[in-house]
Amino acid sequence: MTVNEKPLPPGPRGIDAAKFLFNSTRDFKKPMSEMAIEYGEIAHVRNRGRDFIVVSGHEAAKHVLITNQDNYRKGLEYELLRIVLGEGLLTSEGETWRKQRRLVQPMFAKRYLKNFTAHMTRATAEVLEGEPFADLPDGEVVDISEAMMALTLDIVGRALFGADLSGKTARKVGPAMNDVLSLGTKMTRRLPTFVLAHMPGMNLKKAISVNPEGRRFQRALEDLKSVIDELLAERSRQADPGDDLVGLMLSARDEETGETMSREQIGDELMTFMLAGHETTSNALAWTWRRLSLNPAARERLFEEVDTVLGDRIPDMDDMDRLPWTRACVEESLRIDSPVWTVGRQALDEDEILGYRIPKHASLMVLISMIHRDPRIWPNPEGYDPSRFLPENAKGRPRHAFMPFGAGRRVCIGSTFATVEATLLAAMIGRHLRFDLPTGAEVEAEASITLRPKHGLPMLVFHRRPGPVPDEMPEPDLAAV
Ligand code: HEM
Repeated sequence: MTVNEKPLPPGPRGIDAAKFLFNSTRDFKKPMSEMAIEYGEIAHVRNRGRDFIVVSGHEAAKHVLITNQDNYRKGLEYELLRIVLGEGLLTSEGETWRKQRRLVQPMFAKRYLKNFTAHMTRATAEVLEGEPFADLPDGEVVDISEAMMALTLDIVGRALFGADLSGKTARKVGPAMNDVLSLGTKMTRRLPTFVLAHMPGMNLKKAISVNPEGRRFQRALEDLKSVIDELLAERSRQADPGDDLVGLMLSARDEETGETMSREQIGDELMTFMLAGHETTSNALAWTWRRLSLNPAARERLFEEVDTVLGDRIPDMDDMDRLPWTRACVEESLRIDSPVWTVGRQALDEDEILGYRIPKHASLMVLISMIHRDPRIWPNPEGYDPSRFLPENAKGRPRHAFMPFGAGRRVCIGSTFATVEATLLAAMIGRHLRFDLPTGAEVEAEASITLRPKHGLPMLVFHRRPGPVPDEMPEPDLAAV
């Protein structure tokens, strides 16, 4: 049987398909997850001639993201991101992407991560000693999602701009980035914009400018771009570009071609790291605190571990091996509340997956959130059980049954950065503070680009001990790496 004689994957047809598509306009994640439960690890629905495939098993996902990855490009959902991130790593394709990844990959090597780790722990110590936690009476409510968001944005900013950060860069880039992110997130929820964009004579840029919110988004984006241009122009004039990510990008040279990165390309990467690097990690941490407050035994074990391992020390990368339970708490939360719950692809050509036909140009959604709930691999999938991630229990599990950072050549470049960041921040914060969900609090998740708490995450804060003193901490020092 040739590929085009194979059946399409099962899925809703007729009125059921219409119902599915209608429900997807309000909430994308729920109907797709239901489709996965009803029809299995690969399902299909058609709308106005467009084929739509939901992939929810690790074998089918491996086929799309690894085995036959040459046949799949980034999906249509990346269109809006492309307006913000241009030809950055997350959104570019083909030779542009390949060249960039080759140049940028070394910047995430261990020797640089050590330097970034010092930024992470310093920023955390400053938060524990300052806003919003220091001097807060026990039992006060703080939006933990917002607090983690501010902290991770600060950290990615420090990794990018290093020394500049105390100065005007932080004051300008931070708020401009925040505007773009919050307006951009709202735009992703406006389905009519996407429908309009596909009308004759329209494109996404034009569709966005139709409503006032979209125009505000475009203005915020222009402001941010001019701040970044100014910053890069200033940096290029300096004799020593510096050893933060911006500096590394300014001095990077392709080993094969000798080419350097253009200012425009550096600007796109900078936006990409800011966007891809902070909200994801922040949500990972927020969900971890929520799960731990609902699982006191797991939290108690984390407290014991961080008290024993850290004492009054500030952790560094070498502590990762000494914090297996803290890391397992973070990883179990990445499994059950995956911040990136889906990745989208488009088939360049017809393909076959698990005996089914995938039509040319079909849109595929790889549902990471469902792969992480496969009961064949994860007994009691809805239960929060960090012990699954202790090294002795992870043996024998199919490698791609856990893919919070995606898979294949487009796998997250910041996966180690994020794992180290989330683990060390959880350890430092857990050493000093305890967060409890208020009795009866319900936390609704919103599946936008990332899975985030819809109305924030208000939690009661209690001090376990005073915070560390940032002035006594070592400065990040690349020369020592
Ligand atoms: C818990 C935190 C994080 C999660 C869950 C996460 C998840 C992901 C996923 C699933 C992808 C693949 C997207 C796709 O295949 O379409 C991705 C790509 C990417 N991520 Fe992350 N990420 C995290 C943190 C970070 C950090 C800290 C950075 C940078 C500092 C970063 C930078 C990127 C970049 C640049 C890409 C595009 C890579 C490429 O296509 O070459 N991410 N991330």
